Amino acid sequence: MEAGLESVIAAHTVLSDVDGEAGRLVLRGATLESLAGVASFEEVCVRLWSGLAPVPVDGLKAALGAARVEVWSEVERLDDALAALPPVEGLRALMARLADGEDLPAALRITAAPAVFTGALLRRRAGRPALAPDPSAGHAADLLRMISGRAATPAQAAALDAYLVTVIDHGLNASTFAARVAASTRAGLVSAALAGISALKGPLHGGAPGPVIDMLDGIGSPGNARAWLEAALDRGDRLMGFGHRVYRVRDPRADALKGAIRRLGADEGRLALGEAVEAAALEILRTRKPDRPLETNVEFYTALLLEALGIPPEAFTCIFAAGRVAGWTAHAWEQVATGRLIRPRSIYVGPEPAPE
Ligand code: CMC
Repeated sequence: MEAGLESVIAAHTVLSDVDGEAGRLVLRGATLESLAGVASFEEVCVRLWSGLAPVPVDGLKAALGAARVEVWSEVERLDDALAALPPVEGLRALMARLADGEDLPAALRITAAPAVFTGALLRRRAGRPALAPDPSAGHAADLLRMISGRAATPAQAAALDAYLVTVIDHGLNASTFAARVAASTRAGLVSAALAGISALKGPLHGGAPGPVIDMLDGIGSPGNARAWLEAALDRGDRLMGFGHRVYRVRDPRADALKGAIRRLGADEGRLALGEAVEAAALEILRTRKPDRPLETNVEFYTALLLEALGIPPEAFTCIFAAGRVAGWTAHAWEQVATGRLIRPRSIYVGPEPAPE
């Protein structure tokens, strides 16, 4: 038995395949490269959800827009205490107020919610009024507008679409497994998403990209990278944005996001710093851990892309949730369809009761 369940197979899924040796991600029959930067978030939701629920193939964009308007009513209940929480915890608390269910309307509510609630939380924290959704907009464009208050440019909307698609699903990662466990009890899709977001927010999973920005800011210029990284490892820190449980080679999502940064035309100096830090980190990790291939993961370029889109690092995990929630939903439906409760067993290694 391994404490991290690394060799345990816990589901059959049609949703995604993570090939850790080849560095390849397949999303329901299509490679990541054929979707990221090509298809919209809504189109890939249709790809994942088809056959699991009665998805309106041509109407998902409108249905998701209507769901953003539906969940907006919850923003009235956003108080100062909620706004003072770390954004991902505020998002979780607001999502917990949504009506639960296992049907398509519940799926649309939880998929709409991170965009609407993250925008409202960030604006409230900045002392500005929350902005109502525009149901006619694409999900990515509307998410950006609800945060910044300005209409997203087509390039910005395309970059966020590429991000949401890149992170939409990824095998049985920790948050998806948590979501499947909750769904297997028939608790509902909102509960499954709450389980997912609770697992996602940790720094070993979806909490990693915020600290990547701290690392880049701490390093400041390429010449400082090596010394800064060596000192971090000497303290016993892990380098955020590197290493993966499944990939033994470079995470293909890193390059999908790097491509999105280039297409966005983001700040060349910042990207050059990122590339210099990445190169130094990979070289140092190779020297220090020669037996364990540690490569760049999705979170490194997530940080650079979301930063270039003007999203504050404190909200990076909320944006990750905005994409991954569609995967959690698909997995929840898939798990419910098995009709089986997830309930593994443990081996007791505690003390025996005293003899009577
Ligand atoms: N920096 C330094 N050392 C590392 C790192 C890292 N980023 N990742 C792994 N190691 C070390 C680890 O300490 C261990 O050393 P030792 O054997 O001396 O204790 C060795 O490499 C092997 O680690 P592992 O058992 O293969 O790693 P794991 O599968 O338990 O961890 C991980 C995977 C993602 C939690 C880990 O690589 C990590 O903490 N990375 C930094 C956080 C991060 O970037 N997370 C995002 C992951 S990808 C997206 C997502 O899932 O959300």
